[in-house]
Amino acid sequence: MENAKLILNGKEYELPVVVGSEDEVGVDISTFRAKSGAITLDDGYGNTGSCKSAITFIDGEKGILRYRGYPIEELAENASFVEVCYLLIYGKLPNQAELAAFDHQLTRHSLIHEDMKKFFEGFPSSAHPMAILSAMIASLSAYYPDENNVDLNIIRLLSKARTIAAFSYKKSVGQPFVYPLNDLGYCENFLHMLFAVPAEPYKISPTLTKALNLLLILHADHEQNCSTSTVRMVGSSQANLFASISAGVCALWGPLHGGANQEVIEMLEHIRADGGDYKKYMEMAKDKSSSFKLMGFGHRVYKNFDPRAKILKKAADAVLAELGVADPTLAIAKNLEDVALNDPYFVDRKLYPNVDFYSGIIYRAMNIPTDMFTVMFALGRLPGWIAQWKEMHDDKSARINRPRQIYIGAPKREWVPVNKRA
Ligand code: SDX
Repeated sequence: MENAKLILNGKEYELPVVVGSEDEVGVDISTFRAKSGAITLDDGYGNTGSCKSAITFIDGEKGILRYRGYPIEELAENASFVEVCYLLIYGKLPNQAELAAFDHQLTRHSLIHEDMKKFFEGFPSSAHPMAILSAMIASLSAYYPDENNVDLNIIRLLSKARTIAAFSYKKSVGQPFVYPLNDLGYCENFLHMLFAVPAEPYKISPTLTKALNLLLILHADHEQNCSTSTVRMVGSSQANLFASISAGVCALWGPLHGGANQEVIEMLEHIRADGGDYKKYMEMAKDKSSSFKLMGFGHRVYKNFDPRAKILKKAADAVLAELGVADPTLAIAKNLEDVALNDPYFVDRKLYPNVDFYSGIIYRAMNIPTDMFTVMFALGRLPGWIAQWKEMHDDKSARINRPRQIYIGAPKREWVPVNKRA
């Protein structure tokens, strides 16, 4: 494709064009400031590419999501989360020997150092598990300081984050920590650590295992979203894997991002407690003078349906039916979706349910507490963050991320001694 041309102050600048493997077009402005002295500005980076990546492809208009070329629908139907972790991080589906070795490694590295248990004694029982998760993941770098052993640190992180998450839940409910068992698979081990109690044997539910596997796969990566861009930003300074991922956990925590799944359930619960009048809340969501947002709706990229939300809506019905759970908030969610999909305010702004709209209903049916929902999102997103960090780490030409700005503050002014100030 021929160069782009930009005219500024009557001067024409030619800028090279990059075309991706799915025909996405990007204008490469990396030489523009040196040539013109000007920068480009893009509030919230909604129109700016931060990197080239071979990991995940999203077409927001067509509702397409693929991990390393595999459609999310096929992975959700056929894959295990461990396979998806390997696929995202190493770029291919593992063969049987590779999968067995990877799985064995994840099993062998599921314990955290016994000294790390002492960290939990310092947290109040009311501590949000995302605070614990980000602190503990960063602290893993104190126990595994060898940054060169990237593949082993990846295994350690994928496996121990699950244990840390489960221990944070046990801490919050005042129950003893349950250690991982080496004869359980990735999802089964997590459920066992979450829900087993010493008093009685814990029976692993195939329904819960299947639901957890699906939820983790659907959250596994999503190209350059806020938390992944944070991981790349921190990692671009050559900070270690654990520190970079810990920063991603903090970014995900925000209610506009991964924290939305907790907000959705709290919103649905609020509507239910207020008599279930969802139409009243739809009107509030459209009213600019109201701070109410329809949480779980809207997306920076998807301007059509979020394919993950479609899969989760179907799964919510199936999981609740299999578990024999009747959750009135599911009906409210479906009513909100039905009304929004026909309301000009939402249609004109292309606001559709996103991945967070139905996930909380399934987590709740699994007896996962609301303040653990964003931790569940983080556990799913872990392989994506790791894959994106590794892609940048392996690129020896990668530079530290350092955006520019347009200064709009005070012009130069002289110092005034304190006794002469107004
Ligand atoms: C995730 O990036 C990713 O890929 C994220 C994610 C991932 O997998 O990593 O997909 C996960 O974070 C999903 C999003 C979860 N967040 C929420 O559900 C919170 C509610 N949604 C909104 O806050 C919002 O839609 C965002 C944050 C998701 C997107 O924000 P944008 O792209 O900045 O869009 P915007 O805020 O500029 O909204 C455009 C218009 C505005 O109205 P106008 O100014 O044009 O009149 O749509 C309105 C907004 O007021 N709008 C909403 C709305 N979302 C947008 N109005 C009511 N309810 C909403 N939820």
